[in-house]
Amino acid sequence: MAGRKLPNNLKLGVATSAYQIEGAWNSDDKTPSIWDVMCHQPNNIEDNTTGDDACKSYYFYKRDIDMLKFLGVDFYRFSINWTRLFPNGFTNITSSAGLDYYNNLINELLANNIEPVVTMYHWDLPQKLQDLGGWANPLIAYWFEDYARGLYKLFGDRVKTWITINEPHQIAVFGCGMDMLAPRINCHGIGEYLAAKNILMAHARAWHIYDEEFRKSQNGVCGIVIASDFAQGATNNIKDVEASVDAVEFHIGLYSHPIFSSDGDFPERVKRRVAAKSLEQGYPRSRLPEFTNDEIEYLKGTSDFFGFNHYTTYFYTRANYESSIIPSFYDDIGAKIVEMNFEKGVTFQCTIVPKGIRRALNWVKDTCNNPNIMIFENGFDSYGGLNDLNRVSYYRQYFDDILDAIEIDGCNITRYTAWSLMDNFEWASGSRLKFGLFQVDYDDENRKRSPRCSAIWYKQLISTRTLNLNYVPLLEDICF
Ligand code: BGC
Repeated sequence: MAGRKLPNNLKLGVATSAYQIEGAWNSDDKTPSIWDVMCHQPNNIEDNTTGDDACKSYYFYKRDIDMLKFLGVDFYRFSINWTRLFPNGFTNITSSAGLDYYNNLINELLANNIEPVVTMYHWDLPQKLQDLGGWANPLIAYWFEDYARGLYKLFGDRVKTWITINEPHQIAVFGCGMDMLAPRINCHGIGEYLAAKNILMAHARAWHIYDEEFRKSQNGVCGIVIASDFAQGATNNIKDVEASVDAVEFHIGLYSHPIFSSDGDFPERVKRRVAAKSLEQGYPRSRLPEFTNDEIEYLKGTSDFFGFNHYTTYFYTRANYESSIIPSFYDDIGAKIVEMNFEKGVTFQCTIVPKGIRRALNWVKDTCNNPNIMIFENGFDSYGGLNDLNRVSYYRQYFDDILDAIEIDGCNITRYTAWSLMDNFEWASGSRLKFGLFQVDYDDENRKRSPRCSAIWYKQLISTRTLNLNYVPLLEDICF
């Protein structure tokens, strides 16, 4: 069967994150993270489940590796649970149980020829650091530097691709500006911008010390992952198009501009809008903190790749914010999302707009100095079932547009990652929403894992290294 050949330098993998899969939330000397705390308070999670046990990967990681081998992936992206390794949040004490766990995982991956790609921070901040202000305290940049140095020292001999922070936007807006994610600070219009600045500074410190202290001996790369869902005008009307440009700058540019642009700093459009709104609202200064000139220089160029997570594209119209939650990030953008008539998964986040990923990749190429782009998440939600041909169709269409971005537009894309290896704890949505290539049976204490059609499809893509638009995967009678 004919199909589109994948470029030789495109590596294929899958991703998970620690809190979403590990379980064992209080084993050995581990202390609580902000997610342990959030899940243990009533009514914070839609279906009142927690990540206490999740997929139990802390115990079953070898079975996860068997699944990775079944797929034939080049790499596995997973994250380190900060308090499992450093129970008091600082690096003076290392947990021997935590160290054993991550050493075993990394060594077992390498023994099976699967490259470990490690995220340092996928949202599970030590609660002790939250008690000290968390992402609102500028000193977190130093705490994060110490944490990163600890990781390079312990694992950098074997880990050659480091991701500092996963999706600053989600941490800042949903966790600090709102109450959807931990730590539920809900200080809208202020918390998200404080966090944005401190997250960027923390990331930059982790990158600089890699560059100065480890790169020469360890010879790897280090970068940030930015949520890159895209925005388009709901109509071609100039006002709507302008609204979508603002949305892109607030969501993506806020984090990419300081790092990847030649000028550095937060994007002009964001600075202008937040300053004007703040003044109107009687604040003596902009709610968006400033960078000093030294900080602007310090941040520039601090990512060896553009880590790109993408699920969908949103359509915007220029409109006043219809909510009393002011000041806020959304009021500052001054635009509203319009629901369009596209097929979708369960949530809005998984509306199928394949052309959108090509546009987003081109935006990154054009505004971020044509970086090495590593796609670290792309996926589709459902309420379960093995026969997930709609997920297959999503992946197939998105992949087709990614290949257009590479072959026709010249985007420099070197990794593709499906989210997720298996059904896991989907944050505030709990266990109801499923993103897995493998289904996980949560009624089974051994958490039986079974490949969906999408797993079979991905396995075929990897083994043939060809995108065949007509291939229909058939379920296999196998479980892990
Ligand atoms: C996050 C994942 C999450 C996924 C699906 C991403 O924003 O990095 O942890 O499970 O989206 O919602």
